[in-house]
Amino acid sequence: MKAIRTSFHRWLPSAVALAVWGAVAHAQTPATQAPKLKLEQIQPTPVEQLPDDHLGRLIRYGKELTERTFAYIGPEVKDPAMRYAGNNLACASCHQAAATKEYAMPWLGVAATFPQYRAREDDISTLQDRINGCMERSMNGKPLPWDSREMRAFVAYITHLSKGVPIGAEIEGLGTVTTRMPNRRANPEAGAKVYAAKCASCHGEDGQGRRVGQPGDAQGYLFPPLWGPDSFNTGAGMNRLAMATRFVYANMPLGASHGNVQLTLDEAYDVAAYMLSQPRPEKAGLEKDFPARWNKPVDAAFPPYLLANPDQHKYGPFPPLVQKQQQMKAQLMEYARREQAASGAAAAGR
Ligand code: HEC
Ligand code: HEC
Repeated sequence: MKAIRTSFHRWLPSAVALAVWGAVAHAQTPATQAPKLKLEQIQPTPVEQLPDDHLGRLIRYGKELTERTFAYIGPEVKDPAMRYAGNNLACASCHQAAATKEYAMPWLGVAATFPQYRAREDDISTLQDRINGCMERSMNGKPLPWDSREMRAFVAYITHLSKGVPIGAEIEGLGTVTTRMPNRRANPEAGAKVYAAKCASCHGEDGQGRRVGQPGDAQGYLFPPLWGPDSFNTGAGMNRLAMATRFVYANMPLGASHGNVQLTLDEAYDVAAYMLSQPRPEKAGLEKDFPARWNKPVDAAFPPYLLANPDQHKYGPFPPLVQKQQQMKAQLMEYARREQAASGAAAAGR
């Protein structure tokens, strides 16, 4: 068998060889070329089967934290010092199936993609930085200390989900789907109708979800809230319309998936706009996000509004903004340079 593989590999084009031989083939890919993987090729050992040693226990705690975040670091836990998250969501409220579902921002292989450049910071982020990005925004909370057992457990779990994946791999199924947005302003009123028909049965007419137990008991939600005080904040990735549309399109109502969507793209776009037109916690200092400016996503609906009025950055249409961003890239780079020089001068004058 090995001989056949080797001789096949010699004449098959590398993309075909990869598809055919999967994990075997990518080990033979030259180190300079980013190996391509499909999400289903990454099959980590179920955490229950890991040994009962230090690492096994830490990885299991990481999975538990992902699914029941509210019970360990939520705002209702007994020890006030452990209240790092500001809401009672779980990481798995968005990173579905303990962060293993395709196009629901899964963590399979993700440890092999860090450190990485991130536009939001215009800097290199480590896995810990990224986890704290979601802590401060999606979870509306505080960053976890890097040496805390919880941070180490998240890192251990994500690394476990990435075992065997070569560093620098390109993985299909990560993040959200990349579907293009409809070329029109989203219609939150139409979205309200979609919401009533297809979302309210679980997430509630008022969007506040359904608790497992009572407020204050740190038991989280059967169906998480989509807006209001216990939801993600205005700085979260989910608060951007294109991001929310892509998540909802490939993952909601519950049971939907990339291969089995249950909404049209237009319905997903409008219902996401309805969701994001509702009140939620405000993150302060958002104008400092995307300091490079030229790579600020067009659906980041907070100041400075670089390409259009606030309404278009919030509700679209986005394709003209993407085009305008391309055209204005040089000007935006100049804008950022001057802004940085000015803040440098202000700092020097202090
Ligand atoms: C409200 C939804 C939501 C919740 C809750 C949430 N996240 Fe996220 N997370 C996202 C979105 C959306 C992205 C990707 C989009 C982006 O780049 O902002 C993401 C990205 C990530 C990534 C990077 C994944 C990649 O493909 O590079 C990590 C790691 C992560 N989150 C960790 C966490 C952890 C840990 C928690 C819980 C403490 C959490 N997230 C809770 C929505 C959420
Ligand atoms: C059958 C119940 C059900 C229906 C219907 C449903 N959801 Fe969800 N939704 C869930 C559950 C449960 C989660 C948490 C993730 C999980 O457990 O897989 C969730 C998570 C979410 C999240 C991310 C977490 C958060 O709180 O922000 C969003 C956004 C969302 N749903 C939007 C929608 C939209 C929009 C619709 C209607 C098109 C919808 N859902 C329909 C059950 C449902």
